[in-house]
Amino acid sequence: MGWNPKQYEKFKAERFAPFEDLLALIDKQPDLSFVDLGCGTGKLTARLQQALPGSRGQGYDSSENMLKQAEAWQNEQLHFEEKAIEAVNDSLHRQWDLVFSHAALQWVDDHPALFAKVWQQVKPGGQLAVQMPANHSHLTHRLLTQMAAEEPFYSALQGWHRHSPVLGLEAYAQLLFELGAEAQVVIEKVYPHVLNDATGMVEWVKGTALVPYLERLSPELQAQWLTIYTQRLADAYPQTPVFYGFRRLLLWARKPL
Ligand SMILES: C[S@@+](CC[C@H](N)C(=O)[O-])C[C@H]1O[C@@H](n2cnc3c(N)ncnc32)[C@H](O)[C@@H]1O
Repeated sequence: MGWNPKQYEKFKAERFAPFEDLLALIDKQPDLSFVDLGCGTGKLTARLQQALPGSRGQGYDSSENMLKQAEAWQNEQLHFEEKAIEAVNDSLHRQWDLVFSHAALQWVDDHPALFAKVWQQVKPGGQLAVQMPANHSHLTHRLLTQMAAEEPFYSALQGWHRHSPVLGLEAYAQLLFELGAEAQVVIEKVYPHVLNDATGMVEWVKGTALVPYLERLSPELQAQWLTIYTQRLADAYPQTPVFYGFRRLLLWARKPL
């Protein structure tokens, strides 16, 4: 178990839609240098490079599986490397014109500390652009912590469950102000997804939020988890098609010169 590019890209069109909204916030000056934190398969990193004329970019991700796909997008001006987001400035102390991250920072804890670190990677006059899911109050996500507290999963997970580190909108606006941003856009958007039925929701969550739970369980318990999880979602969403409103945060900020 772990990150699986095939599973993640089952809902490619839906997962990539917020990328276009984030891209629209960026000031597309020519010849920018950029970093993509948690670049995954690199498809969107390459799309970002194409959208920024003359740009050169670097993608970092901690998943070897996801990065294998990124090799296809590598070129003279675009490189990928296995590295944890938390470790990027520990070894590099590098700054970019644009620090970009799409659907990845929600996997790193302690956002006030994380954003302070990420902000250090922005050059004076540069930009930060971040998209993060903020869907933790949806039943698909609430069920995860609920089931992790039930046996046999509680014992198998040794009491572990994932707490979303994603803060409220105002907290990011305040944080960006305190970091010294001279301009900022902080917005939330609900992306309307229409899935066949509750099983479609399970397939969706299997590509992301379910990953850390399933990778901690034996194959037998994974199967048991999926049966119970699917049944509970089917009970709550018996209709077809099913509407899956997905909340995301879009953040953009500029550092003063
Ligand atoms: C939902 S995917 C998004 C991938 C890509 N940015 C996109 O939008 O298609 C999240 C990615 O974050 C990566 N990730 C999670 N935690 C990470 C960390 N601490 N350091 C680096 N990458 C991480 C995962 O390996 C995965 O590829």
